[in-house]
Amino acid sequence: MSHQDELPVNRAILAVRDLEKSFDGVCALHGVSLELRAGEVHAIVGENGAGKSTLTKIITGAIQADAGSIEVRGHSIERNDPNVSRALGIAAIYQQPALFPHLTVAENIALPMEMGSSRQTVNWKSRNRRATSLVESFGATIDPRRLAGTLSMADQQIVEIAKAVGADAKILLMDEPTAVLTEREVERVFALIRRLKADGTGILYISHRLEEILAIADRITVLRDGHRVACRNAAEVGRSELIEMMVGRSIASVYPKRPVPIGNVALEVRGLSNEREGLRDISFAVRAGEIFGLTGMVGAGRTTLARTLFGLAPAPSDVFLAGRPHRIHSPADAMRFGIGYVPEDRRRNGVILEMEVAGNISLANLKSVSRRGLVSARSERELAVRYVERLRIKTPSIATAAGKLSGGNQQKVALARWLATRPRVLILDEPTQGVDVGSKAEIHELIVDLAERGMAILLISSELPEILGMCDRIGVFNAGRLAGILASSEATQPRIMSLALGHG
Ligand SMILES: Nc1ncnc2c1ncn2[C@@H]1O[C@H](COP(=O)(O)OP(=O)(O)OP(=O)(O)O)[C@@H](O)[C@H]1O
Ligand SMILES: [Mg+2]
Repeated sequence: MSHQDELPVNRAILAVRDLEKSFDGVCALHGVSLELRAGEVHAIVGENGAGKSTLTKIITGAIQADAGSIEVRGHSIERNDPNVSRALGIAAIYQQPALFPHLTVAENIALPMEMGSSRQTVNWKSRNRRATSLVESFGATIDPRRLAGTLSMADQQIVEIAKAVGADAKILLMDEPTAVLTEREVERVFALIRRLKADGTGILYISHRLEEILAIADRITVLRDGHRVACRNAAEVGRSELIEMMVGRSIASVYPKRPVPIGNVALEVRGLSNEREGLRDISFAVRAGEIFGLTGMVGAGRTTLARTLFGLAPAPSDVFLAGRPHRIHSPADAMRFGIGYVPEDRRRNGVILEMEVAGNISLANLKSVSRRGLVSARSERELAVRYVERLRIKTPSIATAAGKLSGGNQQKVALARWLATRPRVLILDEPTQGVDVGSKAEIHELIVDLAERGMAILLISSELPEILGMCDRIGVFNAGRLAGILASSEATQPRIMSLALGHG
């Protein structure tokens, strides 16, 4: 008998009431209540730092609420912890897949299935078969014997979901599960979510992509500064109303691209190939003031190209900066030649969690905040304050350790560091991933400002509206090649998609 059969229609399978949570005296949740029904996708939206992740962590038992209650299928949980919540059929999926990289796909999926079982021997065949059928059932072909660490982010995320489904989770908490996926991959995840819904699974869904929310959610709860400001049927709210509830103001345009003077070629790549890294014959040039978009499927070569240009992957040939050939062997080379890079996986590569916000922001700018080799605390502070305000970074102070900020605010700290360096060529890999709508508009505005000052910008993004709204020209990757370069006037979503899929 499924859990749903035990429940009258519309009865909540999960209910939290009056949750309170503070960190070091700073209130993260203030009297938040929410109900999740069987077969429902219930979205939680709000700005960076609104309390969304804190809410999910309390439900999984990763952290304890200061006050309030949690009920699962009508039974109140006395003391929650990760084992209790797992036993009650609660599973969580986060933005960054958390698989064991040195275990195979099958082993990762089987882990929670076998937890608590006393069997000593493992039936590899049936384990592989089960993992394969789970993964295949939502349209992915992932070899169950592959090591999880060798999969793309998207495939890892799919394995994460298979793991939860395999462990019979009836309450799924998804905290920005699609942040690292492209739109096509998101469709696959959505197809799976619809199937899970039909089976009576309840899904709490957190995302900053409002199109996704409006497409998949049945109900939407809006959090602002730790308060629940609304809970509405998704069919009854529009995009702009949703934004206004989230940020408390309306936002005119998320893509403030304006024409700026285009200068000389700042960066040129001629026939760059790197068989081992899967890059083939890449040629393009970016001019000062130009925003050049790079898009395509995750894993098609966009990030590898960025890493190569920044000296993080072996450079097989010269690149041309302001017309002069240079071989880039290391990030130090790249920075010396005037290239800056904001990596995609900023939580792992971008922020030093123990270091305070101010130190993180000035890290790549030591020259500009030092006098005679000494870091001036005052300049460091000024720089940090400026960017905390500009990017609306929500932090108790600039002396707070970056690890204490919400995910999106950590992203903004890493971004601030590089935006403040003023390189000649700036590579931005998914700069608005995980960032709320309000800050997104702010970041777009900043990017246009930088272009206006003559910076050449390489903007890598999976979000086609962002690519279409921000770029002068767009390079589309397919399987390690540039399948085409489109001027913004000729670029459309379908054209980009067909190039990305190799139909161009
Ligand atoms: N471990 C912690 N120590 C101190 N403060 C914390 C901690 N975890 C969260 N906070 C604070 O609680 C508030 C809510 O954070 P939370 O991570 O829930 O936000 P969020 O809505 O998930 O934001 P985002 O969209 O950026 O992921 C933030 O102000 C954050 O700085
Ligand atoms: Mg969060």
